[in-house]
Amino acid sequence: MERLTLDVNGCFDPAAGGLARAELSALAPAASEAFETFEGRRRSGELGFAELPRDEASADAAVRLAADLARRFENLLVLGIGGSSLGGRAIVSALSHPFHNLLPRERRGALRVFFPDNSDPATFEALLGTLDLGETCFATVTKSGGTAETMAQHLALRERCLARFGEAGYRERCVLVTDPAKGALRAIAQAEGLRALSVPASVGGRFSALSAVGLLPAAAAGVDVPELLAGAGAMETRCRTGELARNPALLYAAALHLMDRRKGRHIHVLMPYADALRDAGDWFVQLWAESLGKRADVGPTPFRAVGATDQHSSLQLLVEGPHDKVVTLVRVARPRADVALTVPATYRTHAEIAYLHGHSMGELIEAERRATEAALRKAGRPTISIELPRLDARAVGELLMLLELATAYAGGLYGVNAFDQPGVEAGKRYAQGLLGRPGYEKYRDELVGAAAPDPALVLG
Ligand code: PA5
Repeated sequence: MERLTLDVNGCFDPAAGGLARAELSALAPAASEAFETFEGRRRSGELGFAELPRDEASADAAVRLAADLARRFENLLVLGIGGSSLGGRAIVSALSHPFHNLLPRERRGALRVFFPDNSDPATFEALLGTLDLGETCFATVTKSGGTAETMAQHLALRERCLARFGEAGYRERCVLVTDPAKGALRAIAQAEGLRALSVPASVGGRFSALSAVGLLPAAAAGVDVPELLAGAGAMETRCRTGELARNPALLYAAALHLMDRRKGRHIHVLMPYADALRDAGDWFVQLWAESLGKRADVGPTPFRAVGATDQHSSLQLLVEGPHDKVVTLVRVARPRADVALTVPATYRTHAEIAYLHGHSMGELIEAERRATEAALRKAGRPTISIELPRLDARAVGELLMLLELATAYAGGLYGVNAFDQPGVEAGKRYAQGLLGRPGYEKYRDELVGAAAPDPALVLG
């Protein structure tokens, strides 16, 4: 069976001031310890994300619920933010037709799936005003069960559904994905008799892509969920060793960690050469940032680029800017069989165009990827290559699990807890204070009582 390949040679190029193999060997004991610590926590049931590929009951429940919704509706709105949106969106866009939501039902064969994500009222209102609510169902996804942005959207949609379709119509349209026992949303599910899927208590938001959080929207969009989980499971099994030479997620974490700590390469760029993986890049940014940005001296900065688009945008910075980045280029070895667009032989007299004749657009983007990798290396910029055999559910499952495990191991190497996010709490408390949540008055007062800004520094 073909599988994902990780190649870190581009971090060890002596001509480019890369790492020495001895530096990797010296990190091996720490890497092995990070692996063992992770394994211990996994075995104790604390880190459920690595078990998700084997949780067939949860996957079946998500697939069944999606099938039921697909029988009755045309549109699914996924109300969630952060880890409760990005993973599902990454899977759906990686594995669906690029214009899935624009296809007629007979070509789509599945629900249209929308991720409004942000609580920007302009977007949300526009979406609700565009869709036929009669044909629309929604999944409110929040692990904690009370996230402000998600619950505001839920409440707005709930009220509209109740007004238009009554209690039964609302219950038919609304499904919930939340903690199995805790939080306001779980209590609401029980009180209102709503259908609800569980995110295992041991699975944190940004590690929940392979739980119902990602699987419900994925199944609703027609993704092959068993294959996705098979790929993730294969990667998880492959990574059950503390040996750097055999565990791709550990090697990836180690290479990026060394590059950061030894070479000052603290910006980690993920650059897939496939539009379908653009959202996977956004998902990685959250995973890496929220998991590892934990101390003033720890926090590699993730950055998402897409080839070839960003060759005309951020690539200049990557090739000639400060020596503070590592670029991971993601390649899909074999494009989908139905994508064979060839450049016609027109404008033959123009040498600057004629060389394109007869090449497929797949050849063009692959040449661009190779050229970019070569240009980066020539300029002394470290690269890492991830190759997916093809863009299918199995490979995407492998990729997601690779990056999740690498994040967990990197937490160990950096000596931080990759599974909490205390830094985002302060902002939440201020917002809740401003919105009048009882018990949060002191945060509102702190903002109201804050010193007035220096008018000399404000231009209006
Ligand atoms: O990774 C995390 O825990 C966060 O990014 C959460 O996913 C995000 O804050 C949304 O939380 P919740 O699912 O509780 O609504």
